[in-house]
Amino acid sequence: MKSLCVRVRRQDGEETRKRLAGDGVLDHDLRIEEEDGYLYIPVTEAYDDLPTTRRAFDERDDATDAADILGHEPRFETVGDVALLEPEENDEAGEALVEADNGIETALRVESAVEGRERTRRMSYVAGERKTRTVHREYGRGFVVDLTEVYFTPRLAEERQRVASDVSPDEMVFDMFAGVGPFSVAVAEAGADVVASDINGRAVELLRENAERNGVGDSVTAYNDDARDVGRRVADAGGADRVYMNLPHTADEFLETACETARSGGVLHYYDIRHEDDLFEGAVEEIRETAVRCGYEVEVLEEVVVRSYAPYDYNVCIDARLV
Ligand SMILES: C[S@@+](CC[C@H](N)C(=O)[O-])C[C@H]1O[C@@H](n2cnc3c(N)ncnc32)[C@H](O)[C@@H]1O
Repeated sequence: MKSLCVRVRRQDGEETRKRLAGDGVLDHDLRIEEEDGYLYIPVTEAYDDLPTTRRAFDERDDATDAADILGHEPRFETVGDVALLEPEENDEAGEALVEADNGIETALRVESAVEGRERTRRMSYVAGERKTRTVHREYGRGFVVDLTEVYFTPRLAEERQRVASDVSPDEMVFDMFAGVGPFSVAVAEAGADVVASDINGRAVELLRENAERNGVGDSVTAYNDDARDVGRRVADAGGADRVYMNLPHTADEFLETACETARSGGVLHYYDIRHEDDLFEGAVEEIRETAVRCGYEVEVLEEVVVRSYAPYDYNVCIDARLV
């Protein structure tokens, strides 16, 4: 089949292949071709300033996967080209994932739940290249992530797309708990001006890098500061049309800041972890009580179950307009 590809000299082939794999643009289903001292590496999209062309490729029919090697399906999630193994998986699972033809260069084992104020996870090295930095791609955007230093989950990709699709150009958005910027970048692409805050300095460094690499550096202003302090600055500068509150478990402690920051008619996107017996009602009541103290009524626009979080617990989002 015909595909877009990168053309490089043979001696630069392995380094380029690794770069393309690391940035998630290598097409693993097609076989790399060689001709007259050049390699033609199939890609899913154009990449940086590497020369591209189109040509016919054979599909790979010899691809092994980790389950073939192990005899069972390993439990893991992928961020960029790194496999994050569930704690109970053994080293053989990591070795098989790196050996298989699936674009995985590194296997790490997740050693803790998300913890601490910065919501990071401890991980240990299992197999492949020794690294914790990778580039994860979702909906055409690339995010540099340092897996042990910042929070990131690919499981919110659809949710980020959902909220970004609500944004109108020229809205002013405040991303209170921004991490490496997956919400900020998605809404900046939709035309918004974004102010982002995070107390994790490494996350803010990567957020700035991610805004630049996705072409929205001019639309995103990021502060390595507490959301309450940044919220005050946003309010003084005229307020926000939309406030993202992606800090499930403790977002309620920041509701007052969010209400003081939002303009009249502004929308809060409030994330929480809720038991199945009360998915929304209790959280809506909390939003309402705080909003009333700030002089607003609440119009609930949407109640969304984002994903299952634990047995009986769900990550939910409430979109609430303040009027
Ligand atoms: C659940 S993560 C969400 C990150 C990002 N929104 C995402 O989807 O990847 C929450 C983030 O809030 C940051 N954080 C925690 N408390 C904060 C505070 N008081 N002010 C600003 N950021 C805070 C953490 O460092 C972490 O990066």
